[in-house]
Amino acid sequence: MSLKQVGILTGGGDCSGLNAVIRAVTRAAVIQHKARVIGIEKGFEGLISGKTQELTVRSTKDILTLGGTVLGTTNKGNPFEYRTRDAAGAIQVHDYSDRAVETFKNLGLDCLFVVGGEGTLEIGYLFYKKGIPVVGIPKTIDNDLEKTDYTFGYQTAVQVACDAMDRLHTTGRSHHRVMILEVMGRNAGWIALEAGIAGGAHIILIPEIEYRIENVIKKIQLRKEGGSPFSIIIVAEGAREKGKETVKAQAAEDRLQGVEKLGGIGFYLAKQIEKQIDLEVRTTVLGHIQRGGSPNSFDRVLGTRLGSFAVDAAADGKFGTMVSLRTPDVSLVRLKDLAGKVRTVSMDSQLIRCAESIGINLGREAM
Ligand code: F6P
Repeated sequence: MSLKQVGILTGGGDCSGLNAVIRAVTRAAVIQHKARVIGIEKGFEGLISGKTQELTVRSTKDILTLGGTVLGTTNKGNPFEYRTRDAAGAIQVHDYSDRAVETFKNLGLDCLFVVGGEGTLEIGYLFYKKGIPVVGIPKTIDNDLEKTDYTFGYQTAVQVACDAMDRLHTTGRSHHRVMILEVMGRNAGWIALEAGIAGGAHIILIPEIEYRIENVIKKIQLRKEGGSPFSIIIVAEGAREKGKETVKAQAAEDRLQGVEKLGGIGFYLAKQIEKQIDLEVRTTVLGHIQRGGSPNSFDRVLGTRLGSFAVDAAADGKFGTMVSLRTPDVSLVRLKDLAGKVRTVSMDSQLIRCAESIGINLGREAM
């Protein structure tokens, strides 16, 4: 079918490459279909408030290299469970999903492109079940989505973390220190694992393998005895010590998002190491630097491919789907098959085998 008017929104935490997708969707919709493209602002919140902006080839012409999202985003605006605080500070939950469907209808859209991670795509699926023709586009630095080889934003985040590792190497070596880099990823260890391998880490700690501190100390000690009195550790924010809780910066019940804020494991680990070994330890928390800034070439190409394929999928009437990289092709998977699922590093991943086979310690007994 020929598309006349399409909508696009970006939801959840931002990442590099969102604007590449917005540009690709806009250009493909205009060039292939002469369609109008309506950008919905601030994720699903724009569907509640009706705040939109028209996107054109001209208005998107310089955004390919730009970080963030020109449409804005939020990880608080789930219309099915919209959370606010009352005067006493208590959290109230509202269902604004009918209002969002109403806005979609009033806008006269043929379809809605939902660009997001697991949470946003799950909301997209709920709207699909409520009758909105949705095509999902997978984004997140965490790379934790099922049924796609990579999400866009991930490779850029890995590159940023790898650059940080390179810098920690030179200063750590000069001062004979243990340098810890804490990276994001929520409950998936992809960023830590790949940036750790790329950045020559001596120890990589990921959520999928609970670490034992004695194994970490042993590796640092062995390096010291072998004439390398410095070590570089990369730790995922979701990593945890065997038998202990994940270190949290804020509990879920205290947050409007309704999910816990991770962070702090780098400092926790530093204290543990300092107690047991006579080396100085320093912690760097990379934080949102992994999310901001210009996408690398991989994410620009991936974002552009996903955006253009999503327009083709909509024109073919393939709704309730997500565009997905299945190297070397982009194909379609059903949103239904993703809902509520998170892809973590599996224990039989070749990356784990690769890391351990070259002597990187993963916090467990060397295999
Ligand atoms: O999901 C992306 C992500 O960057 C996670 O890696 C991290 O835990 C979280 O978002 C941080 O969210 P916020 O921007 O709300 O601090």
